[in-house]
Amino acid sequence: MAKQVTAIYPGSFDPVTNGHLDIIERSHGIFHRVIVAVLVNVEKEPFFDIDKRLEMLREVTQEWDNIEVETFEGLLVKFALARKAQVILRGIRAVTDYEYEFQMALMNRRMQPEIETVFMVPAEAYTYLSSRLVKEISMLGGSVNGLVPSIVEDFLKGNKGSVRR
Ligand code: PNS
Repeated sequence: MAKQVTAIYPGSFDPVTNGHLDIIERSHGIFHRVIVAVLVNVEKEPFFDIDKRLEMLREVTQEWDNIEVETFEGLLVKFALARKAQVILRGIRAVTDYEYEFQMALMNRRMQPEIETVFMVPAEAYTYLSSRLVKEISMLGGSVNGLVPSIVEDFLKGNKGSVRR
């Protein structure tokens, strides 16, 4: 019988993009339970505060029963252990992501060898997409239609609460 595997999908999600959502959608059919874990980084001022990032993520994942959205602080492996997760899930877009992801995966393995990092590749259309570019384009008045879920577009346009900074 297949094992019931819990995966943690960590990130800043500032904001969630269609690339993230593509990974979440692919993961929901593979893992028993997926916890989308939003990093609360006290040192870094985010574009969207944590409540808005959670609201957007919860809205866009509400159709899937086995996807949960939570925040975490501190070491990711500690959070994964606390949630009894066996897998850390990361999306890889291009070769440029690889070096950083490889480093993190090995460092996380060093700290917690029983937790496995699994990489997934999003649909080709999202391989050049990033939260950073979405924010930049939107702030400069460009369209991010098709790159982010509609709730994120609304938040970026300021139709749903204010955007920090
Ligand atoms: O989407 P991001 O910003 O690239 O996600 C990075 C994230 C949140 C996965 C990474 O910064 C992280 O795991 N931070 C938690 C602190 C930690 O465990 N650091 C050691 C990593 S080896």
